[in-house]
Amino acid sequence: MARLTAIGQGLVQLHRLYGGSAWHSFHLWDQRNPLIFYLIAGLEPRTGSALSARRATYHGSPCLYHCQSFSLLLLPMAKIISTVNMKGGVGKTTLTVNLATCLAKYFQKRVLVLDLDSQISATLSLMAPHDFAGIRKKGKTLSYLLGNAIQPNPYSKLDIFDIICPEICQIEGLELLPGDIELYDEYLVSEKLHQAAIATENPNFETVWNKFEGTLIKEMLAPVLEEYDFVILDCAPGYNLLTRSGIAASDFYLLPARPEPLSVVGMQLLERRIEKLKESHKASDDPLNINLIGVVFILSGGGLMSRYYNQVMRRVQTDFTPGQLFQQSIPMDVNVAKAVDSFMPVVTSMPNTAGSKAFIKLTQEFLQKVEAFG
Ligand SMILES: Nc1ncnc2c1ncn2[C@@H]1O[C@H](COP(=O)(O)OP(=O)(O)OP(=O)(O)O)[C@@H](O)[C@H]1O
Ligand SMILES: [Mg+2]
Repeated sequence: MARLTAIGQGLVQLHRLYGGSAWHSFHLWDQRNPLIFYLIAGLEPRTGSALSARRATYHGSPCLYHCQSFSLLLLPMAKIISTVNMKGGVGKTTLTVNLATCLAKYFQKRVLVLDLDSQISATLSLMAPHDFAGIRKKGKTLSYLLGNAIQPNPYSKLDIFDIICPEICQIEGLELLPGDIELYDEYLVSEKLHQAAIATENPNFETVWNKFEGTLIKEMLAPVLEEYDFVILDCAPGYNLLTRSGIAASDFYLLPARPEPLSVVGMQLLERRIEKLKESHKASDDPLNINLIGVVFILSGGGLMSRYYNQVMRRVQTDFTPGQLFQQSIPMDVNVAKAVDSFMPVVTSMPNTAGSKAFIKLTQEFLQKVEAFG
């Protein structure tokens, strides 16, 4: 049953394919997202509000023969956050899984972690390898959804709801869409985009590519956005198709960094890439609307090194406004790294350690920053 909380606008559309049953009499399209519709069981005659509704996903072309204006109570959509840095090993995955766990465990938020990296570090930080092996054997990973998006299979049996794992680490509200070591077939993507480009009147590969990139992750997540407060995407280092598609789907990006010169270069490169991505999607139907929620410093060592880190930090402070930097940083704490052995983030396995306390405070600051964006 859809939870209905905020007033939005929609269209009631009678669907002749499903005529008979009460559930399937009306389709109420969510204008914010044309991929979602609601199957309406009944309408409150005076206000026109849905008495009860069930959310469904759009598959194929509907045959509509009637529509009328209608007002529906809709749930707020999840905020999508990508954790990104071109540089590897800076703490993206550790930040993703600990932030997500804190949001669910200590702030009662509903959170989905999506592992976009074929290293599957986020997946294996949240579940044991043998559990993952079982899931993968059944094909219930991100790879299934990507395969279906690239080459739609009319006989496909699973949807995103079947693939998401609930109550991860036995924490209510924490869910995972597991990644995979083989995510998609690059050859199939090239062929699909080539075919799509030559089928257009004035073949333009760039437009076709931008559309694919801009919609791949967005459309995949669309059916579940009302289920969560936050969807956090753990991106691979570098700047591959899934990272770009994840950024294109996101409201915010989170930038973990170590205060080292090369890490700072990685941050600057990323900033430029995101500007370029926004530019290339500017003319599309759905331009990018992503903001930096903040840079999180993962600090290392102390003593003599700290003077050197301070110098780097000062450089960063000239590149970013104070609002773009998290005041709370994360200390290097061996317990954070050791937590991986228990297949649980440190904030749940060892909540009293220095690292955990820092993640909990960071989560509080994160929520304040999100709220400040409105
Ligand atoms: N605060 C911390 N204290 C101690 N170890 C940490 C901390 N943060 C991260 N690490 C460790 O640093 C290593 C790299 O972290 P992580 O995997 O999160 O980085 P990443 O940016 O996701 O890497 P990749 O680019 O390969 O995806 C891991 O072994 C992790 O356990
Ligand atoms: Mg990682």
